Amino acid sequence: MHWHLLSTVLLFGAGAFAAYLKQVTNYNNDAKAKPGMWVYVPDSVKSDALVVAIHSCQSSAQSYFQNSKIPWHQGSDRKGYVTVWPSSTTECWGVSSKASLTHNGGGDSNAIVNMIKYVVTQYNIDPKKVFVTGGSSGAMMSNVLAVTYPDLITAVSLYSGVPAGCFVSASGAAAAWNNTCSGGNSKASPEQWGNVVQAMYPGYNGTRPRMQIWHGSTDGTLSPNNYQETIDQWTNVLGVSITPTSSKPNTPEKNYRMDDFGPNVEGIWAQGVGHPVPSHLDASEAWFGL
Ligand SMILES: *[C@@H]1O[C@H](CO)[C@@H](O)[C@H](O)[C@H]1NC(C)=O
Ligand SMILES: *[C@@H]1O[C@H](CO)[C@@H](O)[C@H](O)[C@H]1NC(C)=O
Repeated sequence: MHWHLLSTVLLFGAGAFAAYLKQVTNYNNDAKAKPGMWVYVPDSVKSDALVVAIHSCQSSAQSYFQNSKIPWHQGSDRKGYVTVWPSSTTECWGVSSKASLTHNGGGDSNAIVNMIKYVVTQYNIDPKKVFVTGGSSGAMMSNVLAVTYPDLITAVSLYSGVPAGCFVSASGAAAAWNNTCSGGNSKASPEQWGNVVQAMYPGYNGTRPRMQIWHGSTDGTLSPNNYQETIDQWTNVLGVSITPTSSKPNTPEKNYRMDDFGPNVEGIWAQGVGHPVPSHLDASEAWFGL
């Protein structure tokens, strides 16, 4: 064995290359919004997929990564995919202003897509395997990304969010709390929610991400009404019936119900569960095909 190979083996053996959450300070971000970017590359990369894990309010990339209830770090180690952890500069994500609710509008969604583009190039990610997930404000951001960059995102798993374009700020603030939406009083028909989506990326007529939507029946932060409104939005956008094609009780666990609306929209209603529904790594990975 050559000396340099041997020394590499020894260094790996000593754990010198142990993976850690690394900040990327320059991700070619031309958006006005400047959220932080963190990336986790597992010791053994075995997949050309990328998962973007987006934190909730009053959190950060680092605390979300270290949160024992957020399993994407473990999923990355086990299955060998890269994960990106955006970190907001505001208390919650910018999902309220026109800038974030528009394709290339310069808001947080635009900045996170710049992170995705950077990582896809840097780590040879298959652009057809870009997955996004998040809880609460992170779910809202994931939904907004799915709508504003439908051509760059393959599938999404939303934990306890709201429809895209529901958390609007009439005064134009980037990240405002919206009591009407959080209280479950932003109600619209599937067609109206579909029109909100069209307006966020006018003229787009290509493929859209597959959507998995989780919500708890006793959610006291973002009303459970937001579950049906989000299902209405995505069944309309993807052109399928709001009547499930299959319904599986007690799946993926007792008191949960998994409803499929064809192969591209899945709802998981968690009876008796509050805010947010805990991440279910296996079910979300299965939705992503990981
Ligand atoms: C809250 O969002 C709704 C849409 O869901 C919007 O019509 C309303 O103006 C927003 N409220 C405020 C105070 O910005
Ligand atoms: C989709 O949009 C493109 C570009 O605007 C256009 O050329 C094409 O005809 C559209 N396709 C459909 C099915 O509307």
